[in-house]
Amino acid sequence: MTQDKLLCDIGFIGLGVMGKNLVLNLADNGYNIAAFDLSDEKVQAVIAQDKQENNTTTPRVYGCSSYTELLSQLKAPHLIVLSVPAGAPVDQVCENLIGAGIQPDDIIIDTGNSLWVDTVAREKKYKNNFLLFSSAVSGGEVGARFGPSLMPSGAPYAWARVKPIWEAISAKVDAVTGKPIERNQPGQTVDTGEPCAAYIGPAGAGHYVKMVHNGIEYADMQIICEAYHVLRIGLGLSCDEIADIFEHWNNGLLDSYLMEISVEVLRQKSSDTNTALVDLILDKAGQKGTGLWTAMSSLEVGCPAPTIAQAVYARSISSFKELREQASKDLSGPTVVSVSKEESQAIIEQLHDAIYCAKICAYAQGFQLMKLAEKEHGWTLDFASIAKIWRAGCIIRAVFLQSITEAFTRNENLDNLLLDKFFAEQLSERHVNWRKSICFATMNGIPTGALSSALAYYDSMRAAVLPANLLQGQRDFFGAHTFERVDKPAGKKYHVEWSSDERKTILIDD
Ligand code: 6PG
Repeated sequence: MTQDKLLCDIGFIGLGVMGKNLVLNLADNGYNIAAFDLSDEKVQAVIAQDKQENNTTTPRVYGCSSYTELLSQLKAPHLIVLSVPAGAPVDQVCENLIGAGIQPDDIIIDTGNSLWVDTVAREKKYKNNFLLFSSAVSGGEVGARFGPSLMPSGAPYAWARVKPIWEAISAKVDAVTGKPIERNQPGQTVDTGEPCAAYIGPAGAGHYVKMVHNGIEYADMQIICEAYHVLRIGLGLSCDEIADIFEHWNNGLLDSYLMEISVEVLRQKSSDTNTALVDLILDKAGQKGTGLWTAMSSLEVGCPAPTIAQAVYARSISSFKELREQASKDLSGPTVVSVSKEESQAIIEQLHDAIYCAKICAYAQGFQLMKLAEKEHGWTLDFASIAKIWRAGCIIRAVFLQSITEAFTRNENLDNLLLDKFFAEQLSERHVNWRKSICFATMNGIPTGALSSALAYYDSMRAAVLPANLLQGQRDFFGAHTFERVDKPAGKKYHVEWSSDERKTILIDD
């Protein structure tokens, strides 16, 4: 490859969709990049795009054909960004860089969706070879190009070096309104506003927080899809009519990127049939695993996150298309009852509130999960700051994140969002509509697992008494697992001698 012998600021490995756009974003912000990918075609593609977008004759991106060449093109200590698939490819690249002569004071930033425990293990494993820093990226390809949300974590020494770069390339939010500052043109930069990049904590913490972001993303998407299903099946509306409703909602409390793109998807016509594309898309959802990891972590730390888990299950159940088709013939259910125009309008309004309430619960679950993980792993997470960096750039960006930021600013020790005064009021004003919406869906046989699980979560969280008393009795009956009593001091354990005739309740000694 022919190029100037000027040393670059940053090395970049992995020029897929995310990688290429991050490179161009870095270049727009004044950094010279030495870029490498196993596919030379991808290297040439980013150089060509840089030439096309860059007005000067000086290239900002230098293509490299090997790991050794990449290191030789960089200022020392080297700073190298990875954008490769999570798992084995990350280790493969790390090993290749060791082979190419990477030094202990060099920094590698993993921007993929790595499993957070892998990041912790890698930081330890490679500590004598280089410093592994991680920074999950959210925002898809457009975010990567014009301003993503970044969740960096690892050694503070590395963060000091990465911070100005990350703050430059990230999305920005107006400090007063909390609204994203627009940036959508090549060459454009934004130097004002609050950057959506904040240090999260030690190794692994950033990837954990990104994992929870994705868990919430799964729930948010599923909630919108269930609302679409109710409108399409329950009210028989067309895709364009649903798009109009979503568009209207997107100007209010439900203003979010996911609602906005749902409008676009619903309006899209297939270029060959000129009918609604969404009607032609096969109803089998894919997943790469971050939602599943979030649900698994919630079970491990003992944090209820049923709406996130349900969103993962909804994708799984969708994948059983053939089975569902068979069962749709064999299993009975209600037929959809037609409603008047007025009733239909009321159902639409109820559904709006159901989405909003379920969304509050999904975020409450995600934030509580991070809080419990924080304790378990000895991190110090700043929840107001996490909510702030999710206000723009990322997939779950929404007006709503400003209210969450304010809730954690009011009380940094808030145990659960539902206990915040603002959110508690929102839920009390709307829960009746939420219930009516679920009743309508249920009576018409339309599954609303995410909306319903969120309601069950809400009702469980606000219940001073749950049926776990009977459950403890059952456990004691078959397994002598003991129980505490409401009329005795806390911590004292009791057991009933179930097999004896007297069935005496006895106090178990510590
Ligand atoms: C983001 C996205 C991104 C990716 C998900 C999709 O924040 O930019 O979450 O990370 O699109 O991995 O995950 P699924 O393929 O599992 O839906």
